Amino acid sequence: MGLFRHSNELLPERRVTTGEHGARVVRRGRRFSRITRQKFWCWVLLVATLFLLYIVVFGLKVLFHGKLEGSVSVSQEVRRDLSISNAGKPPGSKHRKQHFPCEVSFAESVDDLVEPKEFMNFTQFSLKYIDREENPSRNNLFEPRFGGYQTLVEREQSFYAKNQTLHCGFVKGPLEYPSTGYDLEENDKAYMNTCKVVVSSCIFGSFDFLRRPTSKRISEYSKKNICFVMFVDKQTLSKLSSEGHVPDDSGKIGLWRTVIVRNLPYGDMRRTGKVPKFLSHRLFPMARYSIWLDSKMRLNTDPTLIIEYFLWRAKSEYAISNHYDRHCVWDEVLQNKRLNKYNHTAIDEQFNFYQSDGLKKFDPSDPNTPLPSYVPEGSFIVRAHTPMSNLFSCLWFNEVDRFTSRDQLSFAYTYLKLKRMNPDRPFYLNMFKSTREAIPSSSSASSSSTCYLINEISRYLIDNHIEDGKAQSKVFLRPPISVNGWLIHLADRTEDLRFGGM
Ligand SMILES: *[C@@H]1O[C@H](CO)[C@@H](O)[C@H](O)[C@H]1NC(C)=O
Ligand SMILES: *[C@@H]1O[C@H](CO)[C@@H](O)[C@H](O)[C@H]1NC(C)=O
Ligand SMILES: *[C@@H]1O[C@H](CO)[C@@H](O)[C@H](O)[C@H]1NC(C)=O
Repeated sequence: MGLFRHSNELLPERRVTTGEHGARVVRRGRRFSRITRQKFWCWVLLVATLFLLYIVVFGLKVLFHGKLEGSVSVSQEVRRDLSISNAGKPPGSKHRKQHFPCEVSFAESVDDLVEPKEFMNFTQFSLKYIDREENPSRNNLFEPRFGGYQTLVEREQSFYAKNQTLHCGFVKGPLEYPSTGYDLEENDKAYMNTCKVVVSSCIFGSFDFLRRPTSKRISEYSKKNICFVMFVDKQTLSKLSSEGHVPDDSGKIGLWRTVIVRNLPYGDMRRTGKVPKFLSHRLFPMARYSIWLDSKMRLNTDPTLIIEYFLWRAKSEYAISNHYDRHCVWDEVLQNKRLNKYNHTAIDEQFNFYQSDGLKKFDPSDPNTPLPSYVPEGSFIVRAHTPMSNLFSCLWFNEVDRFTSRDQLSFAYTYLKLKRMNPDRPFYLNMFKSTREAIPSSSSASSSSTCYLINEISRYLIDNHIEDGKAQSKVFLRPPISVNGWLIHLADRTEDLRFGGM
């Protein structure tokens, strides 16, 4: 459920205007009460017409809000509601009391920010990546894979923080074999090679609509110096274009520069989404920082401020939020099964493997527990591209490639194993509190959406539900109910309705 400021401020005003007009007409009607019957009926007709007009205008509004199947209008409406809720609530509003104080205090402006000198002076070693894999067995059934064929021995070795060459996606097959996927145009690659700082996101398989960063909150400095890259497939791009998001000559839609990915490496769109999510250091080899944003979120804060807050100020090289609700992977496994998020057998295989390799239950009472939570909320990740951070990203990606694509299941295991295998090589991970924890209860969650980068509302409206290739985000919007001038949307997660139409 979400609370929105009435999305059409003009509406009550218009109602008043029409009402006053109507009243004036009635007064005049009284003044001329002795005038002939014919004239009287003319006035009645006029009043009736005005009334009808009012009904039509108002009624259309209601219809527009309540329209379920028109994907474009629903998404536009959500977008507009989001932007209004971002703008903050008026002082003195009833709903203000429900706000929890924002816990994130970004710097005031980007003007005085300077990257700390010693920042990249964390654990130093050099990583190289396996570029090509030959057919080891010379059998004809060999099919090159994007993630390659990493043996368990290689996997074990890859966890050491030392100079090494490891699997990290983008593994090509022998020369005569077809591409393993995630193919990009040369001009896009050239552009991506220029990026020093990146904000990236992706939409594959049209499973979401496009949310543009809130431009007015982003400094000229960041607009000039940061690449905003949205990876899409061809299908998604045509859909976006049909919704009115047509890229300009340089491929830009607002701040997003769209980059078309051809030949998706996995049939499962959500697994394909893990490539840009985890491997930004490979996609943007010159970048020193990157911010990953799930497509269901709108960037609402200056990325430079985000980097300062989550990395520089926290002296961290990798920042990710913990889950707003679950802290133990055991619970996450149960939840994944309960919601049928993934093939149960595959979840069990992965989880048994992790337990046999030392994964222990999360113990919140143990002060030496290395992480504040074992379950991340990975829709927002801030990274410095340091060796340790890059290694962790590769290792996490390899788990998602080898086991299920549910990355919440592999996060804690990967982190703990990396720590365990490298006791003297620090990895500065900042696992910050989910912004949703600042929210008193789930029912009024979206009223705190004025906070920060993450638009809580969109999370409530869109449930990314199904794995295994049928990735679809679903939402069901009931017609809004108006309470004290606020619109309340009730969002149901349903199996059969698809947000974004199609
Ligand atoms: C990294 O920082 C430490 C302690 O501040 C310093 O001793 C060392 O020389 C620095 N190394 C580099 C490569 O800057
Ligand atoms: C690791 O690689 C770096 C840079 O390539 C090199 O300077 C360093 O000597 C190597 N360290 C070891 C232990 O081989
Ligand atoms: C589920 O996963 C298991 C193990 O990975 C596999 O053998 C089985 O075919 C999968 N079932 C379905 C329906 O995909």
